Amino acid sequence: MPSAPPSKPPEQRPEHPDFWCKRFGEGCTPWDAGRVPNAFAAFVASQQPAVNTLIPGCGSAWEAAFLAESGWPVTALDFSPQAVASARQVLAGTAVDLVCADFFTFEPRQTYRLIYERAFLCALPRQLWADWARRVAELLSPGGRLAGFFFLCEQPKGPPFGIRPEQLDELLAPNFERLEDAAVDDSIQVFAGRERWQVWRRR
Ligand SMILES: C[S@@+](CC[C@H](N)C(=O)[O-])C[C@H]1O[C@@H](n2cnc3c(N)ncnc32)[C@H](O)[C@@H]1O
Repeated sequence: MPSAPPSKPPEQRPEHPDFWCKRFGEGCTPWDAGRVPNAFAAFVASQQPAVNTLIPGCGSAWEAAFLAESGWPVTALDFSPQAVASARQVLAGTAVDLVCADFFTFEPRQTYRLIYERAFLCALPRQLWADWARRVAELLSPGGRLAGFFFLCEQPKGPPFGIRPEQLDELLAPNFERLEDAAVDDSIQVFAGRERWQVWRRR
């Protein structure tokens, strides 16, 4: 019997926390905007009342700090201890619930009314996309929303892994309807011209 090909070491596999720990540890985080994107700030300003929010794959968690300062209940989650250490610095003094756990297996205390997406789906190898779509649907209460930035392009090598618009629609259509789809004018270089702001409503 032919033996299975050796798998890559964990720090070369984005589905493994070591991949992200290495990059945070080396300060090599080209996806990190270091600020809150305009469309998300405008979205938050337009919402009343505040709703309990999950930020999966939060990285340095700039948006979590912003939400907490705006009085929103927020859970920021990442499976990389180095990312969580970076978030802890950004979140010092805020009321954010910062959790080091895997998005696919953590056990939430309740469902959420909002899941914020930025650079998380595009960090996942495509074999995990169907699980991601099932999991966001499971974690949101009916009427809850998935809102954020989606890296829409043909880019099979990543991260960031690009997703074609029709692939994203196919993933989410079974459980969601799209409410918003807009161009983004303040993207950082890695995403410029290829990301869109979208809001999806959980049926
Ligand atoms: C490209 S970074 C984006 C970080 C942040 N969202 C931002 O916009 O700066 C992707 C993040 O997702 C985290 N991540 C990847 N897979 C994960 C999983 N299964 N569970 C939790 N976090 C995960 C990584 O550790 C990393 O911090």
